Amino acid sequence: MSDSKTEPWWKGATVYQIYPRSFADSNGDGIGDLNGVLRHLDYLQQLGVEALWLSPIFRSPMADAGYDVSDYRDIDPLFGSLADIDRLIAEAHARGIRLLLDFVPNHTSDQHPWFLESRSSRDNPKRDWYIWRDRPNNWRAALNAGSAWTWDAHTGQYYLHLFLPQQPDLNWRNPKVVAAMQDVLRFWLDRGVDGFRIDVAHCTGKDENFADEPRCLTHPLADFNDQAYSHEVLRGLRRVVEEYPGERVLVGEVNIRSSLQVLQYYGQGDELHMSFNFLPLDAQWDAGHFQACIGEIERLYEPADAWPTWVLSNHDNRRHRTRYGGSLARARAAAVMLLTLRGTPFIFQGEELGLEDAPITAETRVDPGGRDGCRAPIPWRAEPPHGWDGGRPWLPFPPQAGELAAERQQGAPGSVFELYRRLIEARRHSPALRLGGWAQLDAPPSVLAYRREHGGDRRIVVINYADQPLSCPLDGRWQVQIASDGGGEGQPYAGRLAASQALLLCPQDS
Ligand code: GLC
Ligand code: CA
Repeated sequence: MSDSKTEPWWKGATVYQIYPRSFADSNGDGIGDLNGVLRHLDYLQQLGVEALWLSPIFRSPMADAGYDVSDYRDIDPLFGSLADIDRLIAEAHARGIRLLLDFVPNHTSDQHPWFLESRSSRDNPKRDWYIWRDRPNNWRAALNAGSAWTWDAHTGQYYLHLFLPQQPDLNWRNPKVVAAMQDVLRFWLDRGVDGFRIDVAHCTGKDENFADEPRCLTHPLADFNDQAYSHEVLRGLRRVVEEYPGERVLVGEVNIRSSLQVLQYYGQGDELHMSFNFLPLDAQWDAGHFQACIGEIERLYEPADAWPTWVLSNHDNRRHRTRYGGSLARARAAAVMLLTLRGTPFIFQGEELGLEDAPITAETRVDPGGRDGCRAPIPWRAEPPHGWDGGRPWLPFPPQAGELAAERQQGAPGSVFELYRRLIEARRHSPALRLGGWAQLDAPPSVLAYRREHGGDRRIVVINYADQPLSCPLDGRWQVQIASDGGGEGQPYAGRLAASQALLLCPQDS
């Protein structure tokens, strides 16, 4: 059995995703920045998260909001400077919070000096750093970008891009690319970052024959591309982080909807430490769906000794409250689920405030992939402009921005923020919740009930996905430690659940 003292930090941590453009603005230009994050570290510490993942902050022309990097070793002036990130790393560490950066290995910006050289002539030494072909195949790019090949008239060839034409794919079969990108990791590890989220970690390997892909008739290649060579790339990155002390971590975005395939990216403990599990990101609020997807992860990952992750929302998908029909009760119940499953939970900024997606119109639309709604700015203050003083933020605020503003919720009993804070705290203090095993219990069809246990520490979680009250009797004597709606806390569990209610239960006399 795993020991909470010797387990790596990232198994017990709650991770918080910051989308820097929308988190907090320090200089009034309407775009969030690193000093904005710095100013809210106390907020994050109060929430109790133990690690932050920052979406890309590197120099970028921002064709894909920073996922098109033109210099991996510098901060975009929109976000600040190297001195700012150094200060942020130090201040986060001083609060016991670790910092993960977003590493984008599959592609650079078309403005990266490597690509400018590569496209300058066919015999440029960097020509082979990207993927050039005389003829395109049928591969399709993500983000509504059409063909994955763009014609370069100057040199008379096509280059490959699994995303926008402004995001040419690197050729990871070239050892010089491998060495240069590994050095990028060292650059940031030397500055003290605790690890990386790896963007489309399954995409660096490409079919060497560039064969037409029948599934491209319905989906972009990035949705399922999964080549043996990507695993070799990840083994190389893992060796780099292992050169460093302190259990630096690699968590990968393997954006494939097959849990079994995703599991392969843990390798033999020599690839990713963790991979995102995408099943709950598409899911509606439905007991059967969650039973199936949690059961599948447990069945596959536990025997393989692969540590799961849980994530309900991120910067690419509709927020879960929005997906659940806007119901705050469901979003609150989902928080109990997220923070009591076996595996590392990831919170997307603003879900601890119960935010929904902002409505986006043709005038306010920014992202070519149509993902603006979930990227709306965080309302800090109740009064407009909600702590975004100066310029109008780059996207509209989410609904109920005043009511759900952070200053209204922090310390307010019964708020969504306080629910998250108390759940994170409960998790930190319970070995069962952090590291214990997971076992499903018998329950009526609309209820998911499970037990977590580690050593002598035990918890039960019961979640009612239905919009009406249900009974769910349990063996033993349990009491309500945390209720998603605050109902009955500290009372004995009477075997009944309110509509859309989730309960964290502890043994009665503890
Ligand atoms: C990942 C990112 C997404 C980005 C894409 C290309 O899926 O999460 O935001 O557009 O990769 O880098
Ligand atoms: Ca700013």
